[in-house]
Amino acid sequence: MSRIVVVLNGPNLNLLGRRQPEIYGRETLADLEADCRHVGEGLGLEIEFRQSNREYEIIDWIHEARGRAAGLVINPAALTHTSVAILDALHTFEGPIIEVHISNVHKREAFRHHSYVSTVASGVIVGCGTQGYGLALQRIAALIWAAAR
Ligand code: DQA
Repeated sequence: MSRIVVVLNGPNLNLLGRRQPEIYGRETLADLEADCRHVGEGLGLEIEFRQSNREYEIIDWIHEARGRAAGLVINPAALTHTSVAILDALHTFEGPIIEVHISNVHKREAFRHHSYVSTVASGVIVGCGTQGYGLALQRIAALIWAAAR
């Protein structure tokens, strides 16, 4: 049984900690990666953590996760609201998918209220800050164990 969980981050999340900290907080992407590795270790998961500003790269990483990873955690950032291509790629992934947003997108502009990704995600964690990633990993672990039973 695979214990790999791929954590994918979309455009502008490389600037986490410096970009609108009043919305996204002060934790950097490197801090977030370290948190995910720490939580993953406690859950017996192997974390592959990635960020890209390029839609095609995120799609390629979803394809690479197929048949290999047990689950996906994805914060597609702005591509959440626009990308049918990412939605289509996610439809090809067999395992659980948890969508994460650091900010509470429902409290923000109307264009952030719709997510293509939510139509395929097993669960969605919104507005819990970067802590949402740890919660997503806990949920993935629970779903993986339930499926293995
Ligand atoms: C985000 C919310 C998106 O609307 C935004 O475009 C982002 C980050 C979040 O994590 O809160 O870049 O996905």
